Amino acid sequence: MTQIASEKRIPATLIRGDGIGPEIVEATVRVLDAVDAPFEWDDQEGGMAAMDKGGDPIPDALLESISKTKLALKGPLTTPIGGGFRSVNVRLREAFKLFANVRPAKSLLPDGRYNDVNTVLIRENLEGMYVGAEHFVPVDDDPHAVAESSSYITRVGCRRIAEFAFDYAVKNGRKKVTIVHKANILKALTGLFLETCMEVGEKFKGQLEIDDKIVDNTAMQLVINPAQFDVILTTNMFGDILSDEIAGLVGGLGLAPGGNIGHDAAIFEAVHGSAPDIAGQGIANPSALILAAAMMLDHVNEQDKANRIRRTLEKMMSEKKGLTGDLGGTAKTQEFADTIIANLD
Ligand code: NAI
Repeated sequence: MTQIASEKRIPATLIRGDGIGPEIVEATVRVLDAVDAPFEWDDQEGGMAAMDKGGDPIPDALLESISKTKLALKGPLTTPIGGGFRSVNVRLREAFKLFANVRPAKSLLPDGRYNDVNTVLIRENLEGMYVGAEHFVPVDDDPHAVAESSSYITRVGCRRIAEFAFDYAVKNGRKKVTIVHKANILKALTGLFLETCMEVGEKFKGQLEIDDKIVDNTAMQLVINPAQFDVILTTNMFGDILSDEIAGLVGGLGLAPGGNIGHDAAIFEAVHGSAPDIAGQGIANPSALILAAAMMLDHVNEQDKANRIRRTLEKMMSEKKGLTGDLGGTAKTQEFADTIIANLD
């Protein structure tokens, strides 16, 4: 974590993104301004906006900006379909070696399915099935007769994410870390993950309870009794799936923030996409990006400002005040931001 005095301005890259991106980014920046967040924005284009102008959804100027600031707040980017494009999000993670994906989820709505979820999923972000090593094998006249995909996990990568996760748990006052794997079947691939995480966990035994669960059982246990999970530490693909499941337990992707964190840089974003179906209508829920911005404040040691935002947002949810349509309210995106700003403690 970066140690920076609160009075100092902190350069940070701002990507307004596609679809609802510019609307929720505007709302988020207004809330950040209201708590006097120290960020000095370098506005950069990415996604379709950049694609239309220069033919690349991640232009060099964007990469150079993040290389300099090492910190970014990102609106959702549309990944162009077809044409061999890889996900812009995966490319950014690789470019800045953002090995940890951190996704907190907390029950905020009073009439949600569960009122006691308070978990953080930490996912290895660079290895596993996402290395993109896949191809088809032609047989006779069928060019796609067989699909083959390779996955790898390294001891170095497992150690890095395990150290990050245990450290995060201790620093954030968490009590338990559950290592999620499929080592009964994928004995080498996720066996190495389990073994290495357990080894790293030895150092934290006095401070944390550490256990492990197989991924399929975890998926079921999350639905039966999500409160039993505190921090979940898992591999790339399992984390991708389980974090969306957990978001569903607390009211959906509209409330789910995420941080992609490496040793040298960090990018904070909403977990949801650019929602083209509601773009331009001013009705998108900015909560996920506002919560991601609060994580960004935590990252630069501005926890008081982050907590002010979170407390106000949580109060709005529990009182069902000023909410957007997806949460059963009638407020527009900027009105939602107005309510947060007016109610900051
Ligand atoms: P999506 O998350 O954009 O939308 C799914 C559904 O949730 C839609 O009905 C949408 O209206 C609703 N929704 C999403 N965010 C909302 C919000 N803040 N407030 C209210 N409703 C909201 O997923 P979809 O449609 O699969 O993807 C659209 C585009 O976004 C694609 O190009 C995809 O590649 C991209 N994407 C980008 C991500 C990122 O930049 N982190 C993550 C996921 C998708």
